[in-house]
Amino acid sequence: MKIAIVGTGYVGLVTGTCFAEIGVDVTCVDVDKQKIENLNRGIIPIYEPGLEELVIRNAKSGRLSFTTSLESCLDDVEVVFSAVGTPPDEDGNADLKYVLQVAKTIGEHMNNYVLVVTKSTVPVGTARKVRETIQAELDKRGLDIEFDVASNPEFLKEGNAVDDFMSPDRVVVGVESERAKKVMTRLYKPFLINNFRVMFMDIPSAEMTKYAANSMLATRISFMNDIANLCELVGADVNMVRAGIGSDTRIGRKFLYPGCGYGGSCFPKDVKALIRTAEQNGYTMCVLNAVEEVNERQKGVLFEKLHRLFDGDLKDKTIALWGLSFKPGTDDMREATSLVMIEKLQAAGCNVRVYDPVAMDECRRRIGDTVYYATDMYDALVDADAMILVTEWKEFRLPSWSVIRKTMKQHYIIDGRNIYDADELKEAGFHYTCIGKR
Ligand SMILES: NC(=O)c1ccc[n+]([C@@H]2O[C@H](COP(=O)([O-])OP(=O)(O)OC[C@H]3O[C@@H](n4cnc5c(N)ncnc54)[C@H](O)[C@@H]3O)[C@@H](O)[C@H]2O)c1
Repeated sequence: MKIAIVGTGYVGLVTGTCFAEIGVDVTCVDVDKQKIENLNRGIIPIYEPGLEELVIRNAKSGRLSFTTSLESCLDDVEVVFSAVGTPPDEDGNADLKYVLQVAKTIGEHMNNYVLVVTKSTVPVGTARKVRETIQAELDKRGLDIEFDVASNPEFLKEGNAVDDFMSPDRVVVGVESERAKKVMTRLYKPFLINNFRVMFMDIPSAEMTKYAANSMLATRISFMNDIANLCELVGADVNMVRAGIGSDTRIGRKFLYPGCGYGGSCFPKDVKALIRTAEQNGYTMCVLNAVEEVNERQKGVLFEKLHRLFDGDLKDKTIALWGLSFKPGTDDMREATSLVMIEKLQAAGCNVRVYDPVAMDECRRRIGDTVYYATDMYDALVDADAMILVTEWKEFRLPSWSVIRKTMKQHYIIDGRNIYDADELKEAGFHYTCIGKR
């Protein structure tokens, strides 16, 4: 089977590579010439564990190729996946310009049946717009060619994307014709054989499922952050509360970790987009409005703690940040809490020293040399007055506190992810602050 994946970012590259790995003939398409040139030379544009090896192996086998020209492969493929970005527009709606550009190109150049599958996260009604856009182009060309649209939202997590794609909790597919269902069933057969659930439904339900899933996860995070902030005020320990409620099987243990707010390319934009969709339909998403408000406040919580520790006098203090990516396992810094922190620290007159195992280049690309990029996690701490842990990379979990004690000027540790033991740090001579515990 031959397919094309348009958009070779975090989702498109993983999807294309993983389909190639299970024997599909895949052409990955992107408008970014540099990206495609690099991929053709075996240079992977993103950090994603396990991906590089798979890309190189499948490219060598001839099952995975890269191009900037969708037109050139359209005649050969049965399915085109669209995995281009859907960033928020200035009102918070999902901007569909890239998705519709892809649809237009397909309509302009297709010569035989194709199934057009939207993998990007898009609001309900987008598949209809994709269909109309393709049809309008075919009408202009005076052609009557059959095609189908489908929705196949992606649930992979950055940092674990390859495993998530290969062993999904579920695959959601929205279709509106038997032909499309047959094609998607054939494509996902290896997953069905492995007993992963492939769930067929109507297209609006599939589109909505993705937003509902991300909004539910964001809700759990904001709920726990709210509980954590209250714990601090009343003298409870959120770690114990978390363990206490997570053991209830109706609640479960996952996604109950308080921290310094959710970021990334998905939760913030998808929560916003769902709120806007509701507004456009005359409905108010009360819960999600609160989820967003709590998250905005939470992104400033670590700075407020620091501010209090130094009685508001942060001028010329040296602050070390451990972790820049929005979560461990990725170099993605879209909507990362670290960026909010850096901005606040600099506005307060601090010198900022940062370290991240993989996101240093991405940080430099975004904010240039406005901070000191440390050579390792200890270098970030040289003469620091305080260290703030923003992203819980594994290598930060068991540092040498004796080395840190000697390296820092003052010994304030602010743990934005609750990974350290308060008693251990106190004994080692640190002033330790975390989230949700007085
Ligand atoms: N990143 C995630 O973890 C994740 C998970 C699930 C779903 N999603 C959704 O998947 C979609 C893609 O997200 P991403 O993080 O992979 O985005 P990304 O920004 O990493 O990649 C998008 C790619 O599309 C390319 N592109 C844009 N317009 C194009 C066009 N007309 N033709 C060809 N290529 C084009 C861009 O150059 C870019 O390389 C979004 O809707 C996102 O919400 C993302």
